[in-house]
This record gives sequence, structure tokens and C-alpha cells, in this order.
Amino acid sequence: MSFNQEFTDYVKDSFGPKASPKTHRILGSLIQHIHDFTRENHITVDEWMWGVNFINRIGQMSDAQRNEGILVSDVIGLEALVDSITHASDSKGHTSSAIIGPFYRENSPEYPYGGSIIQQEVGGEKTLVSGKVTDTHGNALKGAKIEVWHCAPNGLYEQQDPDQVDYNLRGTFYADEEGKYAFVGLRPTAYPIPYDGPAGDLLTLMDRSPMRPGHIHWRVTHPTYHSLITQIYDRECKHTKDDTVFAVKDDIIVDFKPLGDVPEYKSQGVVNRLDYDIVLILEEEIQKTRQKVRDHQAASEKSIIDRKNSLA
Ligand SMILES: [Fe+2]
Repeated sequence: MSFNQEFTDYVKDSFGPKASPKTHRILGSLIQHIHDFTRENHITVDEWMWGVNFINRIGQMSDAQRNEGILVSDVIGLEALVDSITHASDSKGHTSSAIIGPFYRENSPEYPYGGSIIQQEVGGEKTLVSGKVTDTHGNALKGAKIEVWHCAPNGLYEQQDPDQVDYNLRGTFYADEEGKYAFVGLRPTAYPIPYDGPAGDLLTLMDRSPMRPGHIHWRVTHPTYHSLITQIYDRECKHTKDDTVFAVKDDIIVDFKPLGDVPEYKSQGVVNRLDYDIVLILEEEIQKTRQKVRDHQAASEKSIIDRKNSLA
């Protein structure tokens, strides 16, 4: 057998009867693209082994504190692309999503309305962030759970930094009766993604900066609404235009303003404010628009199985 498309078809047709239609579609497509890539680039044994070692190192560097797989995905634009495809069919009028990134932690401390996520003084500009959580018709979403997290001015998230206390600069809040929330955090700082591993090696090969713009991460959830994972970006940060993980979207770039005359926060050393409203969409609306994508995938899976059966 020659190692052209005939070989690729042979591999794709080797799946057993228990392989699901989705496995045929996705794994079959992956095999097709990897074979095409290998032929087009005349990949040698040495180059293939470089790739195998690269993937092994991604796993070896990953643990509870670090997710190198996400970092590698991010620097080649894969997570941003997946985020965009996942939400491409969603109806409009709700807050845009963005990538979750590698530093989310569950069970961050719960704080009351207006509480501070700054458990330990680490410098930076204290900022009051407040707004409303509503649906696409402007109705308040009482009880919406809001999780936020951002790095310290040294560019490190608390789990990366032995000098920060556990869960510093991250917290959980719940929207009140009117859908309002408020918290005190820091105006976010631009930071380099960790570049001492495989993701950094790729950045070096591509001659690229590891910098991300200053941003705050959000995860907003409600029992009947579609969960929102997003970030907000500081318009004045110079890296907002050249994010190394390609995650910036125009409608989640925000403007920080001077706090103004708000004595209760001024006395805490707060200097900035950010007014930011969040709009969620019903889960059932999302599922309705995504059904078309699932129908298309099912048709594709059927044609793959029909082809396989006709060869049998
Ligand atoms: Fe981040």
C-alpha cells in the first residue's frame, strides 16, 4: 500500500463497530488532517519525535497549579477559535464570552455586596467594580453567581505566587434583588503568560511577546441562564491591541474612570471605578440556536457511516 489518501482511508475505516458516529466524524477528521499535514510538510522521524516529546512535556509541566495544555492552545489561537465557534450561532444581545484561561479556581471565597477581593495588600490601584446582571430584556437576575479573578501587579495569580495568600484577588458574589453587584479589586495589570515551558518555546519560535493585556476574568452563572465566561480588557493598556492569546473582543473592552465622590470607598483607598453591566441569555434560547449545528453534525455523521457500510 502506498502512503497516500488510500492509506489514510484505510486507517479511518479501521474503526470497530462500537465506535460512535461522533468518533467517526471527529477522530476521522483529525486523522485526515494529521496525515495531510505530515505529507505536505514531509515530516521526518526526527521531527515527529520532536513533536512527541513536545506533547509529553505539556503533560509533565501540568498540575493543579498550571495547565500547560491550555497555554499551548492559547498561543496558537486555538482556545479563542473554539470560543468563537462555540458561540457563533448564539443570538445576539448578551455579553460576549471570552476564554477561561488556565487560572480559574473553584470555590473562591464569598463576599457580601461591595466586599473586597484584596485579602492582602499587593500594591496597585484599588477599583470599585459595579453593575447589574440582567436578561436580554433588562430584567434583573437576582441571585446570579458572579466569580471574578485577576492577577496581582507583579503579574502573578495567587496560585503562581508563594508570597500571596490563598485565593487572594478572587472572589464570589451574588446579585441582589435588583440584579446589582459590586466589589473592590485592582485595576488589572498586563502580564506575561508563563513562558518557561512548551508554550514559551512556541512563542520563541514564532518571535512573539508573551504579554496579555490587563484584564479581569468573570464566570457568571444562574440556574436558568446560559453560563457566561468572559474577561474585560482595559482600553488604556497597550497590550489590548496585541494580546498573545488572541482573546480580546471589541465589546468587552472597558473604560476605567476616577472613583469620584464616593466617601465609603474613598476611605478604603479606592481610586478608580468601573461600571459594568452583564447580560445573560436563557439556556433554552442558546440550545435552540445550537440545534442547527447539531443537525449539521448528525447529517455529516450519517454520511460517514453510510459510506463505511457501503464499503463493508
Ligand atoms: Fe488572566
